[in-house]
Amino acid sequence: MQRSRREFVTTSLAGVAGLYAAGGITASQPPQLAPEDGYRLWLRFEPLGERGAAYRKLIQQVVVHGSSPTADVIRRELTAALDGLLGSPAPAAQTSVSAPAVVVGTPKDSTILRELRLDAELATLGPEGFIIRTARTGKHPIIAIASQADVGALYGTYHWLRLLQTAAPIDTLNIAERPKVQIRMLNHWDNMDGTIERGYAGRSLWQWKDLPGTIDPRYVDYARANASIGINATAINSVNANAIVFTPEYLAKVAALATMWRPYGLRVYLSANFASPIRIGGLKTADPLDPGVIAWWKAKADEIYKLIPDFGGFLVKANSEGQPGPKDYKRNHAEGANCLADAVAPHGGNVIWRAFIYDEDVDPDRAKRAYIEFTKLDGQFRPNVLVQVKNGAIDFMPREPFHPLFGALKQTPVLAEVQATQEYLGQGRHLVYLGTMWEEFLRADTYAKGKGSTVGKAIEGQVHPYRVTGFVSVLNPGLDRNWCGHHFSQSNWYASGRLAWNPELAARQIADEWTRMTFGNDPKTVDTIRDVMMQSREIFVNYTMPLGLHHLIGGNHYAPMPENAKAPRADWTATYYHQASTDGIGFDRTMKGNQAVGQYFPPVRDMFDSLATCPEEFLLWFHRCGWDYKTKSGETLWNALCTKYQNGARQAAEIEATWQSLAGRIDPQRHKEVADRLAIQVADAAKWRDQILQYFQGFSKRPILSK
Ligand code: GCU
Repeated sequence: MQRSRREFVTTSLAGVAGLYAAGGITASQPPQLAPEDGYRLWLRFEPLGERGAAYRKLIQQVVVHGSSPTADVIRRELTAALDGLLGSPAPAAQTSVSAPAVVVGTPKDSTILRELRLDAELATLGPEGFIIRTARTGKHPIIAIASQADVGALYGTYHWLRLLQTAAPIDTLNIAERPKVQIRMLNHWDNMDGTIERGYAGRSLWQWKDLPGTIDPRYVDYARANASIGINATAINSVNANAIVFTPEYLAKVAALATMWRPYGLRVYLSANFASPIRIGGLKTADPLDPGVIAWWKAKADEIYKLIPDFGGFLVKANSEGQPGPKDYKRNHAEGANCLADAVAPHGGNVIWRAFIYDEDVDPDRAKRAYIEFTKLDGQFRPNVLVQVKNGAIDFMPREPFHPLFGALKQTPVLAEVQATQEYLGQGRHLVYLGTMWEEFLRADTYAKGKGSTVGKAIEGQVHPYRVTGFVSVLNPGLDRNWCGHHFSQSNWYASGRLAWNPELAARQIADEWTRMTFGNDPKTVDTIRDVMMQSREIFVNYTMPLGLHHLIGGNHYAPMPENAKAPRADWTATYYHQASTDGIGFDRTMKGNQAVGQYFPPVRDMFDSLATCPEEFLLWFHRCGWDYKTKSGETLWNALCTKYQNGARQAAEIEATWQSLAGRIDPQRHKEVADRLAIQVADAAKWRDQILQYFQGFSKRPILSK
């Protein structure tokens, strides 16, 4: 970490020198803000000015108790962060208090914290929870950051640093936090050859050729970023898994990563190729009921746990999009999952089985298939199997109704899978903050057990009492200097961690925090950026797929392609979904249509089923309407579509202008890099508007309303 901080400084200076050399700035007019490349994410720890001086009075000493590697991380992180934030060297970490101090650790390791008698309260918060409280020891005021375990103290430290970074008052603190979800996970779709499936920020972070001998400092910064938002699990290889990762050579490399990340509370999972016993094991079959296969997985799990004692388990995409799976042997998904689950169970591991499965023989509608398969299997999975369900039933569309499996599985823990990587949301080029999308999803009411059975509560295990709970975000950062391609895509990494910790957090609060940490506390900057972020997803929906339209794309999942009618499968086309004709447009999933609405609990089913109550944002998802159907605004459907697309393209241009108004308030490098991508976004939004409206006009035969 020390090394990386130096690296940050060097880069900033090099950036300034570069600008001078390019003649952008004259030596007599030094830039107000040094260029930044975004590498530091939200952990910038820039000086807080006057606010920093005020904080300093309360933080004259830093006392970190404990001798574990995690306590060392806390010590290093706190000292480096306070150095930066307070604008002068922070006091060295010590073990006793003789002035106002921040005191961090566990009561077990700290007499000072023991004196505060926090044990009973800490016990209710668990090893990852923490208390941050202002108190006194002897004559001196202290800020106590305490947990039952070092990892909770680390999370508490980052929480407290966030208060400083966001310029919050810290003189009277009484905070008690515990994560509402147990497995807070990232899924990387990294291939073993260094490419990333649906990655938009360069090649894979994992340097397989150099591991385990060479440790890129970036691995440590990755772990810091995750710990700072409470992420505690990561599956590092693509779900379209290459079995090579299970060979001894690669397991040694994975173990090196796991060892480095352990002090940060980050556990490694691996995506498993179901046919591994054949591909690397020399067996003739991968039938999950075959004794040889069962023995193979058991031996493989034993081998992995020898190297990685806290290995999380396997993540599996089976019988989906060409991947092998139990159905290849006429076994069902429970039989497949249970075979792997039995192998990791003696070690306390989990199997996370993805529900992203859509076999054509199950039902003609892709949106209905996973529900049909998995509800049949509820109760048949081993206790250490979790089913991972994407937020919607198709595939990370700009807007989808929540997947009907949420709330529907009573005995099988369901993890939510969201996608931060923006595959269908402008990839690395469009500014789209997804906090609002996930808030909409998490707050949707499934009515599984009556009103208030929201998706968030379901994944917290409060609707059905799940043995273990989880929230997963597909995140594909790469070697691009700013990790995510677009500076604003970092906010989706941040938001997915914060929502995994607490699915009930507000998207607006998360946007506010992230903005302050990433761009500073200048009020105009904060208000402007937060507001842009809050609108950005709806704007994207408006210019791409409004009113419940979905999948209007081709193979790259980026550009408009409503005419896409030819693909190896019908459900990979666009026409399958929009079904436009001269009569109208939309997919009839009502009870009179294909009855997909019937997969929701009755009040939700009825709400979606009736045109009078179906929220208009899902109109064409559930209903097929004529072009002259009267929408709630009074416009015809055709005119309402025109309005949405016109508005979306105009709003994208407004974001660009708003961003320009922040010139000088944001460092020149990030300002320009975002501006460059906004120019692409504005042009793309106009393309979406024009191509989609022209295409549908071919069916509606009505004039395009221009605004
Ligand atoms: C999407 C994506 C694929 C990915 C798949 C999955 O379809 O385009 O690249 O493999 O989701 O989630 O498994």
